[in-house]
Amino acid sequence: MISRRGFGKTLGSLAMASAIGGEAAFAQRGAVHLDAPPGTIWLNANEHPDGPPTSSMMLMASAMQVSGRYHYQEFPAFYDLVARSEQFDASQMLIGAGSSEILHNAVEVFTSPARPLIVPDPTFEFPSELAKAAGHPVISVPLRKDYAADVKRLAEEADKAKGGLVYICNPNNPTASITPKEDIAWLVANLHRDAILLVDEAYLHFADSPKVDTALGYVRQGKNVIVARTFSKIYGMAGLRIGAAYAKPEFIAKMTPYRNNVIAYVSAQAVIGALSDPTVVPQRRQKMAATRNALCTWLKENKITYIEPHANFMMIDVGRPAPQVIAKMLTKGVAIGRPFPTYPNMIRTTIGSDQDMAVFRKAFLQVLQGGEA
Ligand SMILES: Cc1ncc(COP(=O)(O)O)c(C=O)c1O
Repeated sequence: MISRRGFGKTLGSLAMASAIGGEAAFAQRGAVHLDAPPGTIWLNANEHPDGPPTSSMMLMASAMQVSGRYHYQEFPAFYDLVARSEQFDASQMLIGAGSSEILHNAVEVFTSPARPLIVPDPTFEFPSELAKAAGHPVISVPLRKDYAADVKRLAEEADKAKGGLVYICNPNNPTASITPKEDIAWLVANLHRDAILLVDEAYLHFADSPKVDTALGYVRQGKNVIVARTFSKIYGMAGLRIGAAYAKPEFIAKMTPYRNNVIAYVSAQAVIGALSDPTVVPQRRQKMAATRNALCTWLKENKITYIEPHANFMMIDVGRPAPQVIAKMLTKGVAIGRPFPTYPNMIRTTIGSDQDMAVFRKAFLQVLQGGEA
C-alpha cells in the first residue's frame, strides 16, 4: 500500500510553497489539495493503491546503494529490454521521465505554428498546455455522445490543416471512456498523410472491454502512429517517473534529441523488476475491475449516474457544481480529482483499494444526501 507523506514534513512549508508556485499548471492538473487533513485518502491523480510490485522493490533496494552513478553503460541493455517487452527493437522505443516527457517530446517535435495539435475535448490537458505555451495552435473537437473520440472530425481538422499531431487518450482521461478499435483503425487509414496520430495508452492496461485494443499494431505496420505508455499507473510507479514511446525509428530519432538524459537508475531497476513478473498486469487488472464493478453497482443502487468506466478512475454526475463536492469531500478526508469545465456537474474519482472506496462511499453519500455541498 502506498501512503503519501508530503514533502512538507521534510522540506518545511516555505520550500513547499515555492515549489508549488513554479508548478502551477501541474498543481492544477493534479488537484494537489494543499489543505488536505492528515490521513487523507488520495483519489485525485489516478495512481495505483498498491505501489510498485514486490519484484521492483527488491531491485530498487540494491540500486539505491549504487545510485551515485548514472550507469550510462547499462542503459542500452535496459532500452532493449523495454522495447522487447512489446516485441519492438530499441530503435522503435524512447524512454522518458514518465509519459509526460514523451508527450512533451512529441508536441515539441511534431507541432509548430503551421502544424496544430488536434485534440478531443475533454481529454488530458498536458499536450494542449504545452502546445499553447509554445505558441502552436490547438484545435479541440468535442467527444461524441458515447464519449468516444470523434475520429471523423479529428481527421477533417487534420485535412484542413494539411497535417498536424492528432492526440487520442485511450481510455480517455477524465471520462475513462474508450475509443473503439474500429474507430482507431478508420483514423489510421484515413488520416492526412502529413499528420501523425499520438495515442496515449496510460490507462489501457485497466481496460477489459473487447471493444478496445492497443494501437501498437499500427506502429509495427510502419504507420504514422506514436503510442505513449507509462509505468505510473498499473505498475504503481508514478513517483518513479518512467514512460515510453513506441514509434517508427524515424520518429524516435527526431524525438531523441529532446530527451531529458537517462532516467533515474533506481527507477530503471524498478522497471526491470516489474517486467520480470508476468503476473503483475493481469492480476492488477482483475483486482481493479472487481473494485470498479463494486463501485458501479453501489452507484446504481443509489441511483447515481456515471460514465461507464474502463480505467482506474471514473466520472460521476453529482447534479451540482463539482467544485463544491470536491471541497466537501476534502473536509471528510477524501481528495478527489479537479473539476472539468466541459462537465460542470461531474466529479472524477480515482478507484483506489477496496478500503479506500469504502471511505469514499461513506463520505460521498453524506456529501450528496446531507445537503452539505
Ligand atoms: C492520460 C495521461 N497521460 C499521461 C499522464 C502522465 O503520467 P506520467 O508522466 O506519470 O506517465 C497522465 C497522468 O495522470 C495521464 O492521465
